Amino acid sequence: MELITVKDKDYSGKRVFVRVDFNVPLDKNQNITDDTRIKAGLDTINYLSGQKAIVILASHLGRPKGKPEPSMSLLPVAKRLSELIGKQVKFATDCVGPEAKRIVDTARPGDIILLENLRFHEGEEANDENFSRSLAELADCYVNDAFGSSHRAHASIVGITNYLKDKAAGFLIEKEVDALSKLLENPTRPFLLIIGGAKVSDKIGMLKNLLDKVDTIITGGVMAYTFIRANNWETGNSKVEYDSIPLAKEIYKEIRKRHLEFHTPLDHVVADKIAEDAHYFTTERGTVPIGWIGVDIGPQALWEYTDCIKRAKTIFWNGPMGVFEIEPFAKGTIEIAKAIAESDAYAVIGGGDSIAAVNKAGVAHKISHICTGGGASLEFLEGKGLPGIDVLKK
Ligand code: 3PG
Repeated sequence: MELITVKDKDYSGKRVFVRVDFNVPLDKNQNITDDTRIKAGLDTINYLSGQKAIVILASHLGRPKGKPEPSMSLLPVAKRLSELIGKQVKFATDCVGPEAKRIVDTARPGDIILLENLRFHEGEEANDENFSRSLAELADCYVNDAFGSSHRAHASIVGITNYLKDKAAGFLIEKEVDALSKLLENPTRPFLLIIGGAKVSDKIGMLKNLLDKVDTIITGGVMAYTFIRANNWETGNSKVEYDSIPLAKEIYKEIRKRHLEFHTPLDHVVADKIAEDAHYFTTERGTVPIGWIGVDIGPQALWEYTDCIKRAKTIFWNGPMGVFEIEPFAKGTIEIAKAIAESDAYAVIGGGDSIAAVNKAGVAHKISHICTGGGASLEFLEGKGLPGIDVLKK
C-alpha cells in the first residue's frame, strides 16, 4: 500500500495539523500509567519541529461524549510530552475557536502545541463539516499519525482532509501499515495466529479473513471457551460469548475445509472466583466442574502452544490466555509472551492486554512489532480499509 508520507514534503515555516493518538490510560489522580502511545508519536513530532514547522497536535482521550470532561483533559499529556521532548509544549484549552487560534498565531517555527481533547466537541465523532473546517482553519497542511484511531471516520481523521488538501501519513502510520501488511501479503510460513482474551465478536472478522493466510491457530481465554462450548464440551462457569457460538461453529467448518491446525487448550487452570485468594486447580478440557471458572491455560496446553510457537516463522498475537492480571493465573500468558520473544519468527502483537503481557514479561524489546492500535489493527487485518488510511493513499 503506497501512502503519501511526511518524507514526500517540505514543511518549513508551515502550520501542520498532526492527528496523534494520545488516548493513554490515566489513574484517578490523572497520572499517565502507560506512555507508549506518546513515545510512539515522537519521531514525527521531532521531524516536523526540526523542519521548523509549527506543529499543532490534536488527539482524543477517552469517550467524553461531546462535552468537556476535566478527568479526560490532555493537559497531563502535554506535561509528559514536554518531558520526553525536552522542551515546553504549549497547551490550548480548546481545540477550536479563539483560544486555539491565539496560540497558533503566536507560535514560532519549531514550536509544538497540543490542543485540548477533540471529543469535547460533538462535531468530532459526527465528522461534522463545520467542526472539520474549524480544525482545518488552524493549519496549512495535515498529517495523520494516529494509527490507533484511523478506523474512526471522525472529523480530525477524515472530514479535515476535505479542507486541508496537503495531507500525509506520519512515521508511525507508515510503520504500522508496513508491519501489518507483511502479515497479509505473503507471510513466511508457517504462520501462527494466537487469539485469546474476551470481545470474541470483535475478533471473529479478523479470524475469518486470516483463515486463508495462516497455517496454525491457537486459542485462549473467552475465545477458547467459546470454541469449546461450540463443540458441546463442558466449560463450567467459564466466561463464554454465547452469541458468537454459531459463528464459532461456522469457523470450525472453514478450518476443516482448509485442513488448518487448530487448538483449544488441552487443559485449564480453574478457580472458584477471580481473585488473588481464590482456590484453584488444573483440569482437562471438557471437565470444568460447575461453579468453577477457567482462568488460564494448563501445563499440557502450554507445552503444545510453545511447540507451535517454536515451529512458526510468522506470528500474530491478540488477546491473553487467561486472567493474567491476577498473579496465580498469569503463567500461561506470560510464558506465551516469553516463547514469542525467544522465537526467531516475525512476530506482531496487537491489543492492549497482550501488550501489557509482553511488558509484564519484560520482553517487549524482543518483539518484531507492537501495534499501538487494538481496534484499528483488528479492522486492518479483517481486510477492511481504514477510513483514515484510505484518504492518505497515493
Ligand atoms: C483506542 O484506544 O483503541 C483508540 O484510541 C480509539 O479509541 P475509541 O475506541 O474510543 O475510538
